[in-house]
Amino acid sequence: MDLGIQGRKAIVCASSRGLGKACALSLARAGCEIVINGRDREVLEATAKEIRAAAGVEVAAVVADVGEETGRKTLLAACPAPDILVNNNGGPPPKPFRAIRREDVLAGLEANMLAPIALVQAVIDGMVERGFGRIINITSSSVRAPIVGLDVSSGARAGLTAFLAAIAREVAKANVTINSIQPGAFDTDRLAAGMSKQAELRGVTLAAARAERQAAIPAKRFGRPDEFGQLCAFLASAQAGYITGQNILIDGGVFPGAF
Ligand SMILES: NC(=O)c1ccc[n+]([C@@H]2O[C@H](COP(=O)([O-])OP(=O)(O)OC[C@H]3O[C@@H](n4cnc5c(N)ncnc54)[C@H](OP(=O)(O)O)[C@@H]3O)[C@@H](O)[C@H]2O)c1
Repeated sequence: MDLGIQGRKAIVCASSRGLGKACALSLARAGCEIVINGRDREVLEATAKEIRAAAGVEVAAVVADVGEETGRKTLLAACPAPDILVNNNGGPPPKPFRAIRREDVLAGLEANMLAPIALVQAVIDGMVERGFGRIINITSSSVRAPIVGLDVSSGARAGLTAFLAAIAREVAKANVTINSIQPGAFDTDRLAAGMSKQAELRGVTLAAARAERQAAIPAKRFGRPDEFGQLCAFLASAQAGYITGQNILIDGGVFPGAF
């Protein structure tokens, strides 16, 4: 399917690995010029090379911390007028509710709510003027259904979701859309690190911990990052101009509601 976004410029935050990388790759395959981002230069350069080879498009690699204002300025300097913005960042570490300190909450809000809001504010008027814009936020299924230990993550991302709901309606008439994708369990480095920790804590093998978690998912497997990336590319497509202010769950059927 031709997504109608060939030559569009996209900033994909936190995209040297995992879900962000999958989004960058899918957008590149759709013909977009991409700015990718991460803090580790070596990993980021390797990803840029991989995407260039796979898609034959221009890929700029920006080493920056998207959680910091200077980092965001560097990203915007590399692509001052993006048509597509994918907001992503590392997630707050899991922590028991009673151990969460004020600083943990503030750090989570900064990384997963305030950073994406700042980027949306920086790019939205240009998108409106140009009559095309697609903003996609990577949030989490935990916004919709609680996950014990991820309170900071869920709270910050729910805040982001509500914060952007009104502006999404305001800019819809200019063909600018704002949507979020809520991932369930996807097989990325973050998931692998979490699984290793859990296996260690519970004294079971990593294979046993993975099998148990997958057995609890109706699809009986973890999501593949490329499945996530392709959903992101569709939301960024020309065809998706009538989808806005939505939160798309992609979780292999874990959420039990019909709506
Ligand atoms: N995977 C899942 O199952 C799942 C489920 C629900 C929600 N999520 C959320 O989705 C997001 C992506 O998850 P993932 O699984 O793709 O994680 P991942 O595999 O750990 O990849 C994270 C990516 O973000 C980059 N990054 C992290 N912090 C950054 C920062 N401050 N500035 C710039 N880049 C940064 C990392 O590169 P560097 O480390 O080099 O900076 C890496 O490229 C996270 O917020 C996560 O909580 C994931």
